[in-house]
Amino acid sequence: MTSNLFAVSTQGMLIGSPTFWSAAVILVSLLLWNLFRAPSQLSRSDAVQSYRSSLFPGLGPLQFYSQRNTFLRSIFGDPEHWKESPPKQNGVRVNARGHVVTITNNPPQDGKTFFNDRGLHFNKGYEVMFAGIPEMPSFLKSKSADGEENPADTFATNLRSAISAKRLEGQLPAMIKIIVDNFALFPAKNGEVDVHKTIYPLVFQISVLLLGLAEHARDVNAAKALEGPFWSFADNTGYMATHFPLLPWPSTVKKWIGAIRMSAEIRSTVEKRIKEGRRENDFVQEMIDRGSGIKSIEDFVMGSLFAAIINSTGITSYFLLFLCARPELRDRVRGEMEAMIRTHVEERGEDWNALSLQQKLDCVPLTAWEADLPIYTSVFDETMRILMISMLFRRKVTTSSKATQTTTSIASSNVLDREFVGFWLAAAHRNNNIYSDPTKFDPDRFSRGEGKGEGEFVPWGSGRHICLGMRFAKLEIRAVHAAFLMNFPDAATTDGNGKRYGPDEVPFPDQESEHRRYPQKPVGLSYGVNPLSK
Ligand code: HEM
Repeated sequence: MTSNLFAVSTQGMLIGSPTFWSAAVILVSLLLWNLFRAPSQLSRSDAVQSYRSSLFPGLGPLQFYSQRNTFLRSIFGDPEHWKESPPKQNGVRVNARGHVVTITNNPPQDGKTFFNDRGLHFNKGYEVMFAGIPEMPSFLKSKSADGEENPADTFATNLRSAISAKRLEGQLPAMIKIIVDNFALFPAKNGEVDVHKTIYPLVFQISVLLLGLAEHARDVNAAKALEGPFWSFADNTGYMATHFPLLPWPSTVKKWIGAIRMSAEIRSTVEKRIKEGRRENDFVQEMIDRGSGIKSIEDFVMGSLFAAIINSTGITSYFLLFLCARPELRDRVRGEMEAMIRTHVEERGEDWNALSLQQKLDCVPLTAWEADLPIYTSVFDETMRILMISMLFRRKVTTSSKATQTTTSIASSNVLDREFVGFWLAAAHRNNNIYSDPTKFDPDRFSRGEGKGEGEFVPWGSGRHICLGMRFAKLEIRAVHAAFLMNFPDAATTDGNGKRYGPDEVPFPDQESEHRRYPQKPVGLSYGVNPLSK
């Protein structure tokens, strides 16, 4: 048939060829089928309504990717007002290019099932619904204890070792040094810094220290060379990149260029180290020593950095933005931090006034960094409540294991095998049935008992897949905050032109800027003098 077609076309008679027209009809029908036919199980007679207003029902709503929060608000209304105007429907079922996704808007009812049901698979949820990981890393491929595919095995084991208590303790001085060195680069006087250009790269560099290569971690510029490709990868994970990963769409191309540049940088640095017979004090060295291949190393570094950076950067930054708009609270948090540090400086018999900031922070052991700081924790939790509004995914996968064969019910409806489930964090964290005045930054709300119920406050997730990096994240974020507040005691939150924001005026991140969390209006941190500046 191919040769026939070619023969006709070369003779200029394509239009008259029945073969051509048959092929064209088949192709157009296939295209129309793909564009206009939604999966049959999208609509079924149960408690959940399906979303049917897509321009191309076969593709599903594109806003589900690019404008996810806006899309869900258009269906359920604003969670901030659900007490007065409850959602008109119980969950929603959407088509995502042939995949059926049931999204719950009732975290207290569905949280337990979402986070604990063994039939709901974590990696298979993200593999399809979120093109978040450069190539499929090995952590999405190994075997689990119960015999099903369980990515978390290899990856989780490596990650646990990379951020074990022993490694955290061992790397603390290097972490503090990175923080202090970064602050030393801030302007000497009357500084007004953009968190995306200062705190974000700092958190990136600390994450590289624990999860990546020492060669990148010890040098601000080398870390930055990796950070650019990282964000061009992370910023371009939309509908096209997810569902048409091989189509050279502009955002998909940017995404892959980012991934390739990052992976090439990691690979060449590992190869150089091995070639030079050099050893470094990092987790990659442990992987090299036990014979892991370069591909496994690359997969681990990229996968773990992706998991580590997306939330830590934003939380570290917005904590400071929210806090420094409240001078009285800022001073209380700083006082709490300083008292903790002072105790350890004095325990070592050192003279507080004679020590540099780095020397003071170096006196604090891991256990003290992890001890209770109630005022600090209330501000930290409130920052997480406001920022963590994205969608978590799972996929129902029934295997030969009995544990996976139970009935899974979400939004009072059974989830069929191979279908997806979405848990919208905003439905918990911004819901005024759970939190009074949810858009108000109010750290005292937790001591009033808000957010204590099942599925109501889950910024780290919960149950079977609670955040594996929580301990490291809390440590690095606390260390950055302690150093910042000690070095810049007068820091204020300003609009980029020196004008201070009042306590209730600090702009939130744009709700659709899920990874980078760009603010809705310009915002930065200002201070008078930078004592670390050389
Ligand atoms: C403030 C910072 C962080 C926040 C708010 C956060 C939040 C979360 C959340 C909500 C989940 C659960 C996702 C779900 O249930 O679908 C999660 C899982 C995970 N997080 Fe974090 N995370 C943070 C930092 C980190 C860091 C620094 C790392 C790595 C060092 C990390 C590694 C992971 C991994 C590997 C998982 C998947 C766990 C599994 O497969 O069982 N996270 N995180």
